[in-house]
Amino acid sequence: MPLPSRALDPAAPDPILGLTEAFRSDPRESRVNLAVGVYVDETGRTPVLPSVLAAERRILEAAGSRTYLPIEGRAAYGAAVRSLLFPIGHEVTTAGRAVTAQTPGGTGALRVAADFLLQTGNPRTIWLSQPTWPNHPQLFRLAGMDVRTYPYLDATGRRLDADAMLATLRTAEPGDVVLFHAACHNPTGIDPDAATWRAIGNVAVERDLLPIVDFAYQGFGDGIREDAASIAILAEAGLEFLVCSSFSKNFALYAERVGALTIVARDAERAEAALTHVRIAIRANYSNPPAHGAQIVETILCDPALRDDWELEVAGMRARIRGNRAAFVDALEASALPGDWEPLRGQRGMFALLGLDQEQVARLRREFGVYVVGAGRVNVAGFTRDNLGRVVTALSAVLAH
Ligand code: LMR
Repeated sequence: MPLPSRALDPAAPDPILGLTEAFRSDPRESRVNLAVGVYVDETGRTPVLPSVLAAERRILEAAGSRTYLPIEGRAAYGAAVRSLLFPIGHEVTTAGRAVTAQTPGGTGALRVAADFLLQTGNPRTIWLSQPTWPNHPQLFRLAGMDVRTYPYLDATGRRLDADAMLATLRTAEPGDVVLFHAACHNPTGIDPDAATWRAIGNVAVERDLLPIVDFAYQGFGDGIREDAASIAILAEAGLEFLVCSSFSKNFALYAERVGALTIVARDAERAEAALTHVRIAIRANYSNPPAHGAQIVETILCDPALRDDWELEVAGMRARIRGNRAAFVDALEASALPGDWEPLRGQRGMFALLGLDQEQVARLRREFGVYVVGAGRVNVAGFTRDNLGRVVTALSAVLAH
């Protein structure tokens, strides 16, 4: 039996990681990669954090074993992850009603979450914000879920339309799953405020919805603790929900694939029961998780001095991202480019969505070697003193005609 004919019809490159490949093979020295959500410093490098290097030295010296980890990873890692999600002494953790499984990155957590829900007979529908991370729809579709969307932005494309979002969520069926971005919404950089999160929580309770919270940028918005405020609000609403954490960005451990799926249930018994099904989802996918990256995260989070160092390093990345965002908006406004750029200033995290059309995005790449995602999502961390002016000149050209 030959390969299925569709396998011989090449698929389109990935809308984000495919651009990194194209960027790498672009010979122009002036090229600028504002596409993939990876932090770079002023020299354009993605450094290994000093806290990570220190943790790795300790791990190496301890010369531990490389035997299999438990299917859900180490218990100490799970507790460390929950310490990022909930303040010390929070009722969810003291009641033992949250369980955590280590996963390969945030994407691994999302896929395990989908498998867990399907295998335990949850309704198949998941609601995603429009727009959302381009991998969300294909991930949930390929897992076997039906994807629907809820509106997120108003007509200007620069602000949240909370009323439209909530109105659509009120039409969801009981048991439907709804995906939210905990902070630093990808691709818009626009987050609900606390009052809107409370309204979201109320609608989820009223309609009996199950939230999945994608938490890939903790610490890149207002702070590590501050960015978790949405999680505390959903817990206060009395909901059961899932959180998919990624440590690619805030620990700069992109290539190590470190993440976690946390399930918050009504009580400890329900949480432990849910974990038994998560184990099956993991065992059937990749058996058990890789150790190294998670060991680094656990070592840092469980050592008060290393944790302090890491928090300062995250604060440093956040400050650079914010500075870049402000410099970008200043440059756009100074260039007298038509458009309302001011709202971009208050947005959070790595991304800003410029609202470009396909041809403008293609021209940026073709004529200027400036790589951006989809409808003009730029990674503001990618700006340097050297490339910012060139990017704004390129934008002026493609927006002028
Ligand atoms: C992004 O949105 O650029 C990141 O989350 C990287 C990825 O895997 O797409």
